[in-house]
Amino acid sequence: MVKKIAVLGYGVVGSGVVELFYKNKKKIEANTHTELDVKYILDLREFPDDPYADKVVHDIQVIIDDPEVCYVAECMGGVNPAFQFVNACLEAGKSVATSNKQLVAEKGDILLAAAKKNNCNFFFEASVGGAIPIIRPLHTCLAANDISEIAGILNGTTNFILEKMFCDKMDFADALSLAQELGYAERNPSADVDGADACRKICILSSLAFGKHVYPESVYTKGIREIAKEDVQLAQELGGAVKLIGAVKRLDDGRILPTVMPMVVLNDSLISHVNGVFNAVMVWGDGVDKTMFYGRGAGKLPTASAVLGDIIDAVKSNGTVDSQSWEAVEDNSFVAGMDEFKAPRMYRLENISEDSVIKTAESVGISVISQTNSGCLVSSCDEDKAKEFADKLESIGIIVKAQIPVLEDN
Ligand code: HSE
Repeated sequence: MVKKIAVLGYGVVGSGVVELFYKNKKKIEANTHTELDVKYILDLREFPDDPYADKVVHDIQVIIDDPEVCYVAECMGGVNPAFQFVNACLEAGKSVATSNKQLVAEKGDILLAAAKKNNCNFFFEASVGGAIPIIRPLHTCLAANDISEIAGILNGTTNFILEKMFCDKMDFADALSLAQELGYAERNPSADVDGADACRKICILSSLAFGKHVYPESVYTKGIREIAKEDVQLAQELGGAVKLIGAVKRLDDGRILPTVMPMVVLNDSLISHVNGVFNAVMVWGDGVDKTMFYGRGAGKLPTASAVLGDIIDAVKSNGTVDSQSWEAVEDNSFVAGMDEFKAPRMYRLENISEDSVIKTAESVGISVISQTNSGCLVSSCDEDKAKEFADKLESIGIIVKAQIPVLEDN
């Protein structure tokens, strides 16, 4: 019997899923030992000139009620109506593969429970890092490890913008316009530049690695809007680059500290060289030490590749894959706040006079690692100490233009 796939949303990713499926259908069928076909494409729009126009439907109920449809690729984005549609598909026993990070970050616990109840799967490899295999490795290949930390570049648009500011000395606004012209930035670029997209992705990685749902509201999130090209240039002078970093660390007391913020990444870290719309995720575990996953974080076929990988896994899975899940939580007290955050820092400064920076740092108990005419790098400190240092600099007439934490990549 041919098992049927339905694709929800025929935009960039959904059309990529259909294109890649038909391109590699024979290989996919050989891999799964199963005859497969796309039966429906759900979208509000008509696509009269599309080769698969005859598969387009507008009513989700057609898909839910069709027993031939065993697998669903959700590529609509957003929470409503994607949540209702995906939930209904899972309740009907159809496995779902999604590229929708907002859906997973906000409703993952509910949808995972629905999949388990109905002996099917809710998979989301495409929701983090586009083409990069990171979800499956976390709960399979790395499952023997106690994971202590994850950090990476999780948003391609901001990485592209920061690279343009770094290499071509562009302003933030011009680099953002270019990203929009090239189709990298979301229609509303806020999700990219203000960090919400990276936040959703670190929520998903944190939930999977540490077993409890981490909701976006509990994650400290700062985007790249305030980064000036002078910050990027100073980072370059000091031997690094500014990147938007999504990270999560397990603290000594067992709580976790997830963050999204611009950070200086020094040149000896491999991810300082990750440019354009590429993403990279580093995972630290007690067995593996450090691993790094790298690839195209966005785009039609890269994301479709991850969605179809999930569909293939769903075809081969006998029941729910329990390890790819986490608990719902009543309270988020296991998530620590910024008062626990410690890191080395880069300060961009004006009016620096001889020795003044080093002496001021010493007076607050931190040390200067390196310094130029326009700023410095200082040793690791918490938020209070970072502010104390800035206040003391200001009190002696040095103007603090910016302070950016430095990623510790050991
Ligand atoms: N807007 C996202 C990015 C798309 O730039 O990374 C992939 O999630």
